[in-house]
Amino acid sequence: MPFTHRLANEADLPALKALMETSIRQLLPQFLSAEKVEASFAVMGVDSQLIADGTYFVLEEDGVLAGCGGWSRRATLFGGNHTAGRDARLLDPATEAARVRAMYTSPAFTRRGVGRRIIELCEAAARAEGFTRTELGATVGGEPLYRVCGYTPIERMEVPTPSGVTVPITRMGKDLT
Ligand SMILES: CC(C)(COP(=O)(O)OP(=O)(O)OC[C@H]1O[C@@H](n2cnc3c(N)ncnc32)[C@H](O)[C@@H]1OP(=O)(O)O)[C@@H](O)C(=O)NCCC(=O)NCCS
Repeated sequence: MPFTHRLANEADLPALKALMETSIRQLLPQFLSAEKVEASFAVMGVDSQLIADGTYFVLEEDGVLAGCGGWSRRATLFGGNHTAGRDARLLDPATEAARVRAMYTSPAFTRRGVGRRIIELCEAAARAEGFTRTELGATVGGEPLYRVCGYTPIERMEVPTPSGVTVPITRMGKDLT
């Protein structure tokens, strides 16, 4: 594995935003119509809270950003700073599932294990804080990765967006024990 990882910081924000935009535009059209890809921007993107919490990772190869993703001890299941329905409530590790959040791989680095590695980092960090379960809100493009990492579907949702177009998101979960 040639990739190195570190926690993201505020200085990474422009590069993270650019990576997310490219990843959504280039990788989601395999799975969604053009109008649903456009609508996906309302339910995806940078969540600065994850960076502030120190729970957001970047993976790099020779200093080049290959992917990003994180986990959270807060209730928000998916989305960016601008997404409706955010909930910063702290979760109880004894009774609730930590979140896996905002996973994006650069199109130049797909299918090289970047996503899988970030999920491993997230699960290890959540476990270290006492969580025994993780949950996430998967796009249709993310679902194959999560399935192969042991996540199973809990609920399928059609999430409304301001444009009126809905975006399919699947709540998925995994026991870490
Ligand atoms: C989902 C995403 C993060 C996967 O990143 P990745 O770094 O390419 O994933 P990995 O290389 O770790 O893939 C691990 C396994 O997941 C599965 N997988 C990943 N992408 C897949 C795809 N497009 N189609 C089918 N299976 C896929 C495969 O089993 C893969 O193993 P393999 O390559 O040996 O067959 C990336 O496609 C992405 O950024 N998508 C757009 C943004 C997005 O929707 N993110 C998810 C938000 S919930």
